[in-house]
Amino acid sequence: MPLDIDTIRNQFPALALEDAGRRRIYLDNPAGTQVPQTVIDAMADCLVNANANLGGPFCSSVAADAIAGGAHVAMADLLNARSSREIVFGANMTTLTFQFSRVLGRRFEAGDEIIVSELDHDANVSPWYLLARDLGLTVRKIRLDPETFRLDYDHYESLLGDRTRLVCVGHASNLLGTINDIPRIATAAHARGALVFADAVHSAPHVPIDVQTLGCDLLVCSPYKFFGPHQGVLWGRESLLDSLEPYKLRPAPDSLPGRYETGTQSHEGMAGVTAAVDYLAALAPENGSRRERLRTAMELIHQYETELCGALIERLQAVDGLTIHGITAAGELSQRTPTVSFTLAGHHPEAIAEHLAGHNIFAWSGHSYAVEPCSALGLLEGGGVLRVGLVHYNVEDDIEALAAALEELATGQQLSA
Ligand SMILES: Cc1ncc(COP(=O)(O)O)c(C=O)c1O
Repeated sequence: MPLDIDTIRNQFPALALEDAGRRRIYLDNPAGTQVPQTVIDAMADCLVNANANLGGPFCSSVAADAIAGGAHVAMADLLNARSSREIVFGANMTTLTFQFSRVLGRRFEAGDEIIVSELDHDANVSPWYLLARDLGLTVRKIRLDPETFRLDYDHYESLLGDRTRLVCVGHASNLLGTINDIPRIATAAHARGALVFADAVHSAPHVPIDVQTLGCDLLVCSPYKFFGPHQGVLWGRESLLDSLEPYKLRPAPDSLPGRYETGTQSHEGMAGVTAAVDYLAALAPENGSRRERLRTAMELIHQYETELCGALIERLQAVDGLTIHGITAAGELSQRTPTVSFTLAGHHPEAIAEHLAGHNIFAWSGHSYAVEPCSALGLLEGGGVLRVGLVHYNVEDDIEALAAALEELATGQQLSA
């Protein structure tokens, strides 16, 4: 059963918006996706009916408890966690990563080593460098192969040593779209007794995530990248979360996951997260558990997006002077997300973004906080790249509009209105 894209698009109010008669074309999805009406309704309903703190005997607090509990279960289903106790909510991935860098740091000693990568978003790089500076740790960096746009796994394996305590790596790159081999990375890290912290912020809207088969020890993602509200979520193996010592207030719970959920959480955000997970599950046929439906739905999304990505790459490659920085081989597109970064000879990335904005096409220029890969590919000085990112609500018409606007820029000939 393929995805019914018209029905899908009708669920997203933002996709129907027009500005001065031009429809909005969202290619800024890696920076945050639009949300279906069910997410908006769930958040509004929480603010009306369940706007209370947790743990009280009165009905609005009881309802808030149910929303918080439900959101943990929903995220456990999405990530295939063994238990909802393994799910920790927070403000966003960056804040959770800083928090857990400190929590993990309690186990490290001067001279210990952390491995990061040249393919990662800075939120999975800087927190570890800052921790290393505070504790006297050494940081080593996995090389990005500029020919293949993949991590150099041999180099990674050569970096592992007796002092390696932690490997921090992304599941997929928010700049190049490359999907990394987390099971391979985790197996090698575990053989040395090191933990693996995986950043799944960019992969979560595109591919099924199963923490049990990925093999990492901690994983972070951000629901606003997968059709939900601005939140961050961390998954951690229960035995690990139990054994780590949180930074917490005395009256806060000692049990999981509350011991890591500092302060008052966004309950309306949690309501929205459950609705986003339910939205995704409903893309699959109605049989099976929510977890099973989520797996099927994410496989359908990946299939659809891989085809769309092929069409995007083909159209971009036909634009004079355009260079794609990332995997382009037709047979390898399932090893990437449909996030495509490029440069266009003679045009600064910022000027391209402005030109596209003139056509109501939304896209980001620069490094998108992926400072490492941008710099490893020698693109930083030239202003980075123009990044376009598709999700499953995008259609071929979006690609056509993008290609036409780029051709206009490349040839200097204006499009007819
Ligand atoms: C791959 C990746 N990691 C981490 C982040 C940071 O996420 P957050 O905004 O939730 O802190 C982003 C945000 O763009 C990202 O794309």
